[in-house]
Amino acid sequence: MLLSCSDKKGTTPIPIPVPSTEQPAAQPVPVPKPVVSTNVSNDPGFKLIEGADCLACHKIDTKLIGPSYQDVAAKYTKTDVDQLAQKIIDGGKGNWGDIPMTPHEGISREDAKQMVKYILSLKK
Ligand code: HEC
Repeated sequence: MLLSCSDKKGTTPIPIPVPSTEQPAAQPVPVPKPVVSTNVSNDPGFKLIEGADCLACHKIDTKLIGPSYQDVAAKYTKTDVDQLAQKIIDGGKGNWGDIPMTPHEGISREDAKQMVKYILSLKK
């Protein structure tokens, strides 16, 4: 008995994809956007604060030993710059509690004012 079942293999060649040797155009490296953080600033006043011991007791947005700079900014205005600069140099307590701020006699009046201006710029 003859079976007519075809055992003929398909002769159609399977197309083999030829890998392209051409590389896609190089993607430009994305420039990361500067991360906006309240704890980093290029403000000259911040640089002075960073270079002094202020950040041991003050943080920008949370109370540490001293009030947060945002709290200071909320309490005062530009007319208080002189008084606050003097307080940084002399130290003192009473406005926020019984813990005193250490005096900073080595800081010039101009630098202290620059620091205060930066602190007040944090007003929300
Ligand atoms: C030893 C911890 C300490 C250091 C260091 C320190 N502070 Fe203070 N700061 C305090 C405390 C505590 C107060 C709250 C004083 C008060 O109750 O009147 C304060 C208050 C302040 C105030 C508000 C003053 C007021 O009368 O409301 C400013 C502005 C300030 N500090 C800036 C600075 C700057 C700028 C530096 C760095 C040069 C600095 N502090 C370093 C502890 C510190």
